[in-house]
Amino acid sequence: MRNVKCLLLILSLFLPLIQTFGQAATSRDAASKRAADLLAKMTLEEKIGQLNQLFFLSQLMKPEMMEPDIREGRVGSLLFVTDPVLINRFQKVAVEQSRLKIPLLFGFDVIHGFRTVFPVPLAMASSWDPAMVERAQTIAAREARAAGVRWTFAPMVDIARDPRWGRIVEGAGEDPYLGAKMSAAQVRGFQGSDPSAPGRLLACVKHFAGYGAADGGRDYDSAHLSDAELYNVYLPPFKAAVDAGVGTVMSAYMNLNDVPATGNVFLLGQVLRKEWGFKGFVVSDANSVGDLVTHGFAADKADAALRALTAGVDMEMSLPGTAVGGAYADNLAKLVKEGRVTTAQIDNAVRRILEVKLKLGLFDNPYVDESATASHHNNPEHRQIARVAAQRSAVLLRNEGNLLPLTKGDPKVSSIAVIGPLADSKRDMRGPWTLADDLKTAITVVEGMREKVGPGVKVNYAQGVDIGRAYPSIFAIFAGPRPAPWSELQKREEFEKALALARSSDLVVLVLGEHEEMSGEAASHSTIDLPGRQRELLEAVSALGKPTVLVLINGRPVDISWAVNRVPAILEAWHPGSEGGNAIADLIYGDATPGGKLPVTWPRSSGQIPIYYARHLTQKPESAKDFTSRYWDMPTSPLYPFGYGLSYTTFAYSNLRVSKAEAKVGESVEVLVDVENTGRKAGEEVAQLYIHQRAGSASRPMRELKGFERIALAPGEKKTVRLTIGRAELTYWSSAVKGWVQEPATFDVWAGGDSTATLTTTFRIVR
Ligand code: NOJ
Repeated sequence: MRNVKCLLLILSLFLPLIQTFGQAATSRDAASKRAADLLAKMTLEEKIGQLNQLFFLSQLMKPEMMEPDIREGRVGSLLFVTDPVLINRFQKVAVEQSRLKIPLLFGFDVIHGFRTVFPVPLAMASSWDPAMVERAQTIAAREARAAGVRWTFAPMVDIARDPRWGRIVEGAGEDPYLGAKMSAAQVRGFQGSDPSAPGRLLACVKHFAGYGAADGGRDYDSAHLSDAELYNVYLPPFKAAVDAGVGTVMSAYMNLNDVPATGNVFLLGQVLRKEWGFKGFVVSDANSVGDLVTHGFAADKADAALRALTAGVDMEMSLPGTAVGGAYADNLAKLVKEGRVTTAQIDNAVRRILEVKLKLGLFDNPYVDESATASHHNNPEHRQIARVAAQRSAVLLRNEGNLLPLTKGDPKVSSIAVIGPLADSKRDMRGPWTLADDLKTAITVVEGMREKVGPGVKVNYAQGVDIGRAYPSIFAIFAGPRPAPWSELQKREEFEKALALARSSDLVVLVLGEHEEMSGEAASHSTIDLPGRQRELLEAVSALGKPTVLVLINGRPVDISWAVNRVPAILEAWHPGSEGGNAIADLIYGDATPGGKLPVTWPRSSGQIPIYYARHLTQKPESAKDFTSRYWDMPTSPLYPFGYGLSYTTFAYSNLRVSKAEAKVGESVEVLVDVENTGRKAGEEVAQLYIHQRAGSASRPMRELKGFERIALAPGEKKTVRLTIGRAELTYWSSAVKGWVQEPATFDVWAGGDSTATLTTTFRIVR
């Protein structure tokens, strides 16, 4: 009887789970059945239409240009339409005027916000706070969905170890472990447990894979990665997205080990479908199918279509009217007729797309409620969360003599000079991929400071220098062109004006960095130098000897080696989003305490690139006497290590211990460490755990992040952080074995506040 009761209890506990699985399986079955029924009715042309995704750029195109193709069933998806009225207009043509009434799927790059702009993804990763990242993407999804967008081309999870590459700003930085956590959090934020639910979006993890390893940091350039680097470093964030249930994957532009990613059978067939069992659909990047010809890989556009489809690209994203666009639309029918592509191949791709459309509920609810859109936009609650996100993403790099936080009402400060080309630029608070926000609502540093100090303190602004790209950005078509560069006379006058302002003020906040178009796509920079004459401005202002706070607004680490011993306070704010200026003022005045940590290693100069913490040991480390791998002019250590960031208080780590000194292969080890707030202010610390496998079939990086937790501590408070090292953390892809292994070995463990942590212990894994 007791046993029966137990069984019933267990059953009742698991019943909801079984029901959820049951429902999911039923809706999957129903979707497959409806997709199969529909497929049976479709002509070849209609099927190919479903594989065709087109840009609609309202800046360049008229809706009338697009409607005939939609009516004829030649388009399955549109991207870049964000006006709900236009979305409904196009959707009406698809579901009321096309033969089979298949709804369109509207996609857009909702990368770090929609109306409300959150900090750029590199900044969000600096928060080391997956729950916050998930919440931000939930809001981004809600706002985009309210406009009728159903699919976001995010998360972008490319590992980047070269800050010259402009797209470093779009990802979570250099580390696969942190990257995987951020990736899964974003998928959860966008999709929830069901992407069809109100306020949710279908997510698309991109760019599969290796895009961040572009030669020389030049966007779109080739990547050469060993299988070990791919499996251990570049793929884990993608795998995390797939495990979190991401619905779609975008193939990358570039050439990976001589085979362009969009025609790469190993990536799309072997890894994604076979090894990971991915069931959703794959979309190409813009024109990347046709570009298989440009790569010198496919003979012509027909060959490109054949090879992309065969590799596993289900939908082609293309810009109509371009030489490389429309490879599927123009060639697949002919390829089928010639017997080079089978109907089954086409059907498989169409089925996957139809199943996603069905699961999104598009057939039942194709339209967006235009009257409700506005109520979801510029919502004060969303703004508040964006402000907190910007506070939590900032990284305090230096705070000599505890200059920060400033004290409100300090009688010594009655005037503040806010100086620099990023100090009062709404546009640059946002960062790349902010194409649907309301620019005038972004808060600059000048505005945030004025609001914070109130009328009693004068906050004056001078730009000082102008900055610009030598080659303009393609994205200027969205935000408009930048003002023309200053004349020589204007340059001299503006510089002097800024110096005069600094001289006559009690305190200086210098806001330097990069324009929003200086990072992002097609925004590689040959160096990490501060653009324009910003370094000169920095030196001249610093020479005045005023208390100076340097705030950085940027999308990649920049060369601040001159400042790090001279400017007392340096706050990395990245492109912090709509509420950036308020969040920065909160941090400067201590209404928020910085707790972010760098998700990238910060180089001393461009010459150190690529630089990342998880390097392998060399036989001649920097400490060796004569033959050393050090450069002869500078150390190999970075300016700031991965994981670094200060607070307004201090933390001490102690009592690092493991639950057992020895464990069997497959078993877990608990690592515990005590973290104490040893200062006088409350603060948050990201406790980090690194390991190193001392010997194995292949040599392992000298340190690898394998756990972290952001914790809040009151002054004097001590907490124990407990992190688990299990099979997942100890398994790696070995080049020697050519497969996944978990090996018996001794492991070093470090715990601390960055990747140079010194508190250490060991455990052993045995057979
Ligand atoms: C090209 C970019 O590489 C990709 O990230 C983006 O999603 C598409 N264009 C669509 O905008």
